[in-house]
Order: sequence, then structure tokens, then C-alpha cells
Amino acid sequence: MILYNDKIVERRDVAIDIEDRGYQFGDGVYEVIRVYEGQCFFLDEHLDRLERSAKEIRLDWPCSRKDLQHNIEGLIRENQLSDGMVYLQITRGVANRNHLFPADTASVLTGYVRELVRPVEIMEKGIHTKLLDDIRWLRCDIKSLNLLGNVLLKQEAHEDQCKEAILHRDGTVTEGSSTNVFIVKEGKLFTHPATNLILNGITRLHIINLAKKAGVDIIEQPFTIDTLLQADEVFVSSTTMEIVPVVQIDQEIISGGKSGKITKALQKHFEDSIK
Ligand code: PDD
Repeated sequence: MILYNDKIVERRDVAIDIEDRGYQFGDGVYEVIRVYEGQCFFLDEHLDRLERSAKEIRLDWPCSRKDLQHNIEGLIRENQLSDGMVYLQITRGVANRNHLFPADTASVLTGYVRELVRPVEIMEKGIHTKLLDDIRWLRCDIKSLNLLGNVLLKQEAHEDQCKEAILHRDGTVTEGSSTNVFIVKEGKLFTHPATNLILNGITRLHIINLAKKAGVDIIEQPFTIDTLLQADEVFVSSTTMEIVPVVQIDQEIISGGKSGKITKALQKHFEDSIK
């Protein structure tokens, strides 16, 4: 069963129009929400971000927040989802192809769930990553459907046997192709500030809070590739990956090729927070 505007229906009963602006222009926004044991993790924060993304692209919010919450819960229940994710997207609706916003066109909201297992193996062993030039637009703070830059970068990393692309603009590290990037240097945690150059991850915000509670200094400040490569620990974060250590960047081994102490401690705090 899937969510189509304000109804939960069979997937086969929904036909997306070929002139849906999400399909033609990537004109829409989305969210990926983690579900643990049938419960959404940080639902309010994800819906706040979805609302913000919609506002930033001047997209009409299609329904009340309360109805949407109710329908997300219904979707999880109908699909008997225990551990997985909810994908939600809103597009600017269906209209004859024209770059200009259509007048009087209703937004289209779709949502579905998928089972997911926590990526425990990479959470323990870490991943290899590839440093790439951040070729995306300058509004990475909007969770836009337009993911072509992210897709091309992730694919390039994958073809080099890497699990994630770590991106930089003129030598300043921004984020991953679908993750936020953190480094540890002399016991302090650093990550790029929440500007237009990164997506302000819900997991990122949770990690910042966990670090503060654990007494780890957290510094939201841009850092360079050199600082990244000399870091004591590096990890990436996202809704689906949680906290994953980075043990190699291009040819450079990080943290002796193993997960670091602070990364492990934050993983433990994270795990405790989902129980
Ligand atoms: N990706 N940066 C980018 C570019 C992302 O696409 C994501 C999330 C993040 C992490 O944000 P969060 O912690 O809120 O998941 C950072 C999602 C999971 C995706 O598109 O699949």
C-alpha cells in the first residue's frame, strides 16, 4: 500500500502522469524517515524540514500536518512495517510542460515504505570513500528531488569501489553525496556548518546533541581537505546509515584503517537513543 495525496491505496491503482513536474523537472521535495520497531524516528524534525524545503521552492503544502502524520502512521501499519523507512515526496503537480509555475495546479504527494536493516557490518568495519569536486547547485540545504549531481558523484565513487563520495568545494569539505561528514581532531568533533552548501541532516543534528551530552566539543566550522586527511577519525551520517566510520579516503588510510574511539562512543549513544 502507498500514500497518494490524502489516501492510502494499492500501488497498482496509482498512475503518475508523464507531465508531473517532479518527473519532468525534478520540481519537488522529499524526505526519508527512519522507522524502528514500527515508530518513526524524529518524525517532527523530518516534517519540519519537508515544510521548509517546500517553502524554499515556493511549493504549496498539500495537506494539514496532522493529516500527513496520521497517514504516515497508517502507511506503516497497513504495510506492517517494523524496521525500515518511509519515503515521502511532494511535486508541483501536473501541467503542460512549461518552466513557469503552473497556475491552479495541485501539488502531488506520494509516500511508500521499505524494509531496511541497520548496516551493522559497515558500521563496525567502516567504508572506503572517494574525494570528489562538489558539482551540485548552491541550495544543497533544500531536500530537492533534483539529485543528479549526487547520483553522478555516488556512481563515480562506486565505480572506484568506494561506498561514498566525500565532496569539496575548492578544497573545503562540504558533505557526502548522501551523508553528512564529521571529523575528530584532538578529541573535538568538527562538521560543516548548516549553510546553503549542505543538507542539515536530522542525524547530523542528533549527533551534535549526543556529542554535547557526552561532553565532546562540537565545532560547526568548514575544514579543508588537508584537515580531513589528517583527522584522527572521520565518519559519515544519515538516516539510513546512522554513523559509519570512514577508514579510507582515496589512497589515504584514516584512523589506522579502523573505527575510532569517539566514533564508537557516538554509535553507542545513538544506539541507546533508538531503544
Ligand atoms: N540522504 N546530505 C545529503 C546530500 C543527503 O542526501 C542526506 C540524506 C544527508 C543526511 O541527512 P539525514 O541525516 O537527515 O538523513 C546529508 C537520504 C537518506 C537519501 O536521500 O536517501
